[in-house]
Amino acid sequence: MDAGQEQSRRQSGEQVRGAVVTGGSRGIGRAIAERLARDGLKVVVADLPAMRSEAQAVADGIAAAGGRAFVVDVDVTSEQEVESLVQESASRLGQLDVFVANAGVAGVVSLLEMAAEEFDRVVTVNLRGAFLQYQAAARQMIAQGTGGKIIGAASIVAYRPFALMGHYSASKWGVRGLTQAAALEWARHGITVNAYCPGIVGTAMWDLIDEKLAAYEGLEKGQAIRKYSEQIALGRVEEPADVAKYVSYLASPDSDYMTGQSVMIDGGMQFS
Ligand SMILES: NC(=O)c1ccc[n+]([C@@H]2O[C@H](COP(=O)([O-])OP(=O)(O)OC[C@H]3O[C@@H](n4cnc5c(N)ncnc54)[C@H](O)[C@@H]3O)[C@@H](O)[C@H]2O)c1
Repeated sequence: MDAGQEQSRRQSGEQVRGAVVTGGSRGIGRAIAERLARDGLKVVVADLPAMRSEAQAVADGIAAAGGRAFVVDVDVTSEQEVESLVQESASRLGQLDVFVANAGVAGVVSLLEMAAEEFDRVVTVNLRGAFLQYQAAARQMIAQGTGGKIIGAASIVAYRPFALMGHYSASKWGVRGLTQAAALEWARHGITVNAYCPGIVGTAMWDLIDEKLAAYEGLEKGQAIRKYSEQIALGRVEEPADVAKYVSYLASPDSDYMTGQSVMIDGGMQFS
């Protein structure tokens, strides 16, 4: 739905839709928050307290461009904080229509060297966090009786794991399974659940992956991302806005007949 469609909704007395984007202060989450605001939705930019000034800058930028946004702190690994995020967002947005469970962390280490704590760190944010967010968002949408759109961050590694990122790959593979199960359970409530699977997006996350992969492979900083990007058919590293365009579709009524899907938006690296 574009801003014009959202405006005609408003004029016909329908409520302006409200969205939450976690990990919204930078990278892909930031691009999604800005895009949904441009589409005409009110947006909650949610992130860790340590990211509050970045999150506020995103919300201020949206407001300066004529949109509406506010910031809520959350750690997506905390059941109670996720519940509070949903409650506060629903009350400030008027209602919760779209929830983008985007927050995530990565790590690069071989499975033989990986400490159990490192496995837990990544799986706890990426998979337990997705579960807590999906569940709290769905409970709110069911209580509202409105249906809604729940959107998760999977990855190309949900289909084809990367070596040295076994825990990250398993967590995103898990998001894909969770997305399918949630779609089955909540379809009768009018809730669709889908995930996006980016490839190699030029964000802080890939800066870290590049640095660590380069160290493993004896490459210079910047060489690992170049090497992996050679697999991209469209010939360039993905931008956060490339992902946001697809999430805009998932958040819009145009995707109403789609649920349970985890779709590659990767410039042609992996075919489903
Ligand atoms: N960058 C890529 O190439 C790529 C590819 C596929 C999937 N993804 C996924 O897309 C999402 C966004 O990635 P990105 O590249 O923008 O990463 P990023 O590191 O730039 O941003 C991640 C955001 O999540 C937030 N976050 C981390 N842990 C959190 C927690 N416990 N609670 C709340 N917020 C938390 C961070 O503060 C940060 O703002 C992630 O789920 C990532 O796994 C990224």
